[in-house]
Amino acid sequence: MTRAFVVRPMATACGAEVIGLDLRRSTEVDMATVTQALADHGVLFFRDQDLQPEEQLEITRRFGSLLRVPYIKHLDEYPDIIAVLKEADEQQISTFGGTWHSDFSFLPMPPSLTLLYALEIPDVGGDTLWSSQYSAYDALSTGLKRLLDQLQAIHTGWPHGTNGPSADAAVSRSVGMVRNDPSADREIVHPVVRVHPVTGRKALFVNPVYTQYFHEMSPEESGPLLQFVFEHATKAEFTCRLRWAPGTLAIWDNRCLMHLAINDYDGSRRLLHRTTVTGERPVGPNG
Ligand code: SIN
Repeated sequence: MTRAFVVRPMATACGAEVIGLDLRRSTEVDMATVTQALADHGVLFFRDQDLQPEEQLEITRRFGSLLRVPYIKHLDEYPDIIAVLKEADEQQISTFGGTWHSDFSFLPMPPSLTLLYALEIPDVGGDTLWSSQYSAYDALSTGLKRLLDQLQAIHTGWPHGTNGPSADAAVSRSVGMVRNDPSADREIVHPVVRVHPVTGRKALFVNPVYTQYFHEMSPEESGPLLQFVFEHATKAEFTCRLRWAPGTLAIWDNRCLMHLAINDYDGSRRLLHRTTVTGERPVGPNG
């Protein structure tokens, strides 16, 4: 039986809370509504979900096939779940996801969706922000849209000549970064503007963690325009912000959003479980 639940937008550009739905008991009809809400709002928040790891995996599979990510040590018993963890004693270091990014955009087929489930949350701080890259694209001038529509950019998870992942992807020791997949080394070319395969809308698809420079341009030539786009893409009016609580599940679409974990909770433990859904090769306005 389908139970009534409500989708309440949290901000104009992106983000909505889904109220009154226990995802473990959701029907196909419920999931169709959730999928439409995800297309409409980019990121959805579900409170009080009480999920065991198997249940999170099961919910993730309802959106597509599980993506096992490179780089990051997974849970021993669950290779498709990673623990996003910062311990209370890990102070004055960056946090996982602490710079604006789209998850693993350096993969040839980056994850379409990410599901992040909160287990332990600081009393204060540790919120996450998302930014709509549809809204960011829509707000550009016609001339810049036309230029960016033509461009491609190089993404990599582990830039050559460094001993670790992109500087801003450096993380707390608790996350357990491991160089366990050669695919993370590669330079991958993706369109700068991505046409979303479900909505058909255009979204910016570059981020300051994994995007290095424009294809067929030098880093020096690319820098000023890329920097402008990064700053524009995270203007406050394109964002929404979540205050987590244990039991909150967030589901977001990496094809049209960037996100950022706020690193303001030194002295507290923060633990979430993350799963990802396999995506497709990003396609630009010119194919
Ligand atoms: C992530 O970037 O996947 C983690 C975000 C968060 O911890 O809020």
